Amino acid sequence: MADMEKTGIRIEGLRKRYGEGDTAVDALKGVDMQVAPGEVVGLIGPSGSGKSTLLKCLGAVIEPSAGRMTLGQDLIYNDRWEIADLRALRRDKIGFVFQAPYLIPFLDVTDNVALLPMLAGESNAIARQRARELLEALDVAHRARAMPAQLSGGEQQRVAIARALVNRPPVILADEPTAPLDSERALAVIRILNQMARQFDTAIIVVTHDEKIIPTFKRIYHIRDGRTHEEAGAAMPLE
Ligand SMILES: Nc1ncnc2c1ncn2[C@@H]1O[C@H](COP(=O)(O)OP(=O)(O)OP(=O)(O)O)[C@@H](O)[C@H]1O
Ligand SMILES: [Mg+2]
Repeated sequence: MADMEKTGIRIEGLRKRYGEGDTAVDALKGVDMQVAPGEVVGLIGPSGSGKSTLLKCLGAVIEPSAGRMTLGQDLIYNDRWEIADLRALRRDKIGFVFQAPYLIPFLDVTDNVALLPMLAGESNAIARQRARELLEALDVAHRARAMPAQLSGGEQQRVAIARALVNRPPVILADEPTAPLDSERALAVIRILNQMARQFDTAIIVVTHDEKIIPTFKRIYHIRDGRTHEEAGAAMPLE
């Protein structure tokens, strides 16, 4: 599946236990998953099945209990973290799209998106240009000068998606990215994620319950009782 040069995402035998003793919860009990560069896979499963836990482990937001995780060329976890600077990993390698948008309240829409490329050393003009292109593609460019509090929930979510994409990270982790969106805009988001994946060899995992987008995936992982099962999706054409 993945080529040998660029691994994309590889997860092997991943376990996560929250707490200890009588109250311990085994959220992940040996998860195996692989996403090639350029691929967008769906991750679905009932509430409490471990979807967010899996994304948080992969995004180095929480520490797994055991297993192996590889991002691109780098083994990042092998029964313990293999890299010292987890903040740099999160900043440079991973784009997050969360259930809630978490925009910076005192920056306008354009600067919320342009901030990351600016921090990475791009000029203001280039950073704002990249921001504007993505806002355009996500159908929210008409709100470019608005403040986050002035946007609808769906608009905020589309801005958050632009922000996750703007630095072209090799991995994007999206947790219910289309939940507040109508079906046309939900499909627009999936179309952009697929374009990103193809254009920049991004490996993308989308956690979703959204019946509007589930038929678009070529491959789907089901998670149940802390374990994943892979199946073919309907691969509905997006163009
Ligand atoms: N910080 C925590 N401490 C203890 N248990 C937790 C913690 N976070 C999650 N859990 C438990 O781990 C299991 C998996 O939770 P997780 O949030 O990964 O589920 P999910 O599949 O994302 O669910 P949803 O679809 O509702 O978002 C659940 O039983 C949950 O109660
Ligand atoms: Mg969740």
